[in-house]
Amino acid sequence: MPRTKIAGIGFHVPERVVTNEELTKWMDTSDEWIVERTGIHERRYVKKYEETPATLAAQAAKIAIERAGISKDDIDFIIFATLSPEFYFPGGGVLLQRELGITNTACGALDIRNQCSGFIYGLSVADQFIRSGMYKNILLVGSEVQSIGLDFSTEGRNITAIFGDGAGAVVLQPTEKENQGILATKLHSDGTYAEKLALISPGSHGGYHNKYNPDGDIDYGFDHDLDLGGLFITQKMVDDGMLYPYMDGQFVFKMAVQKFPEVIHEALNEVGLQTSDINMFIPHQANLRISQFVQRLLRLQDDQVWNNIQKYGNTTAASIPIALCEAWEAGKVKEGDLVALAAFGSGFTWGSALIRW
Ligand code: UT7
Repeated sequence: MPRTKIAGIGFHVPERVVTNEELTKWMDTSDEWIVERTGIHERRYVKKYEETPATLAAQAAKIAIERAGISKDDIDFIIFATLSPEFYFPGGGVLLQRELGITNTACGALDIRNQCSGFIYGLSVADQFIRSGMYKNILLVGSEVQSIGLDFSTEGRNITAIFGDGAGAVVLQPTEKENQGILATKLHSDGTYAEKLALISPGSHGGYHNKYNPDGDIDYGFDHDLDLGGLFITQKMVDDGMLYPYMDGQFVFKMAVQKFPEVIHEALNEVGLQTSDINMFIPHQANLRISQFVQRLLRLQDDQVWNNIQKYGNTTAASIPIALCEAWEAGKVKEGDLVALAAFGSGFTWGSALIRW
């Protein structure tokens, strides 16, 4: 059975740089707080009306396709991971297909809604399709435009200070080489904490999930006596800022530092390797403190971990392919290297992948 290799990789971030200092125009925050708690110095924001998750994805994809030495028309399946889709539906996969000018309707498009671990989930799905022989050239993209949906008041500062826009893409192909390709992927989820990092409304929940909330009644911003209409989106939701993402930062942080090392060890154990075999670790760029904590636990040197959250913030589903691409472009990922990827985020969902480059 063939393995799956990354045949081409690319990334694209918007030109507009937004520094921590610039955020202080909108909210009560400071460069000092953001750098100390997250490691972030700046992030990128799209040009409104011109750039979207699909356009960023297309830019990244074009580079990955060219580096894979194929044409857009060779792509037989698209996997699009994002938490910031341009439409509620349809998903970003078909918008990317259109943006790339792929007119082959035999090319399927799948949307992945696994937030920060979306790229790892997508990689695992693609790996199964390639190894089974179903597809030969899968385009997997993580792309985010967070800046359009954030709360720029002080209320939203814990999330707005960390999120950024960008996209990363890979082309995945079969390889028959003895020691190359994806060695293992591990996927996990725990829906118990679904609301700890979430954008709940607008949605079709109708308040149902409140029964899982131990702290009592959540105000969802609608009138419970209403039958139809007035549940999906209301003026109160708009007025009270309920249409923005929410995160219990400390809770997420504690879970992340536990799950990252766990899921990396799980993948290593499966293929009989150890942390000392890792040449490059690419963590989802959630918070520099999380990455540094995991690095210490894995006993990795600074040059064995790629961090770029300083420049781009947390680009959720895009963060791993952007970081992997940067590391590869810098010559830090070479043929034969063992690359470990790991992510944790909303859901909660988390996962890891081991790739022999
Ligand atoms: O990628 C998906 C997974 N996400 C993560 O893994 C993120 C995990 N969590 C984190 O990275 C951190 O929890 C944050 C960076 C989000 C927050 O840092 P923290 O050290 O956990 O701060 P905190 O939420 O406990 O808040 C401490 C204080 C609060 O003020 P009070 O209540 O003590 O007066 C916050 O309101 O810091 C305040 N704060 C801020 N102050 C200035 C929160 N955000 C900001 C801000 N600027 N941007």
